[in-house]
Amino acid sequence: MKEKIDALLHEMEHFEVSNTESLENFRLKYLSKKGLIPALFADFKSVAPEERKTIGILLNELKTKAQDFLKEKQESFENQIGAATSTLDTTLPSGHFRGGRHPISIVRKEINSIFERLGFVISEGPEIEDDFHNFSALNFPPEHPARDMQDTFFIHKNPDIALRTHTSSVQVRVMEQGKLPVRVIAPGRVFRNEAISARAHCIFHQIEGLYIDKDVSFADLKQTLYYFAQEFFGKETRIRFRPSYFPFTETSAEMDVSCNICGGKGCNICKYSGWVEILGCGMVDPNVLDSCGIDSTIYTGFAFGMGIERITMMKYQINDLRLFFENDLRFLQQFEAMQ
Ligand code: PHE
Repeated sequence: MKEKIDALLHEMEHFEVSNTESLENFRLKYLSKKGLIPALFADFKSVAPEERKTIGILLNELKTKAQDFLKEKQESFENQIGAATSTLDTTLPSGHFRGGRHPISIVRKEINSIFERLGFVISEGPEIEDDFHNFSALNFPPEHPARDMQDTFFIHKNPDIALRTHTSSVQVRVMEQGKLPVRVIAPGRVFRNEAISARAHCIFHQIEGLYIDKDVSFADLKQTLYYFAQEFFGKETRIRFRPSYFPFTETSAEMDVSCNICGGKGCNICKYSGWVEILGCGMVDPNVLDSCGIDSTIYTGFAFGMGIERITMMKYQINDLRLFFENDLRFLQQFEAMQ
């Protein structure tokens, strides 16, 4: 009996276990009901009484050894499987993929907060608009060139439905609600059928402003925009207004700010003029108030609209508009630290 036990122990020690399959073979061969170790226990009956004590100890040792071996191997295979399927790779370098805001979002947020400090609230409108909100209510005559197919993306060739060409459409939606006074800003995307270049894109962002109350004057418009320019570009910034034309404002103007790159001395950003145009504005045309259900004999208002891309380009000295839409990480990562 002792020889049998020794032989089995020797055999077990040389049993190759390299995977879960061979481990199962080991269990079947030695430890299962019909295995070799239970068979030895069955033979125990035939052991002479004086040998029973030593043989019993040896038999038990053999069984424990086989069981410990099985358990140890099972655990090590389980750990290997766990490591292979775990989604956490602790060897990956950290801090590599830190996200950040897009420069357009940074600037939009900053402009919003300046006007919010003046009591303006944020309003939004749809990107797909009808002719009334994008054009008619804003006093665009039917033959106005801005309605031309060149500028406007129409939906399914339907001349009544288009992608909005400016955020001024939100002015109409706010006025229609009839809650006066009105003091809103409306940031959003706008669309124009233009060839893409360093200075133009078919999608860009605007922020619209609208203020309607009794006795609102052009002086209020100037002071509001002067405050904005100083808050955004710095206290040294000067502004100037040039007469302009928009169908929905009368008087209309364009506003320039002194170039914050050269301080007004002249550089390639301001094309050596010392001034950069940043927005269109004016007093809301009485026709527009009337077509939106507001009594123009009692109320007056001002409106302005600025392109966020242009202001961002000026603020961060970016010379190609396309960079905003390409999502090149080398560009975006430069704004990572900003809120
Ligand atoms: N909607 C005009 C544009 O896109 C800008 C503007 C807004 C002008 C409000 C005057 C008043 O060019």
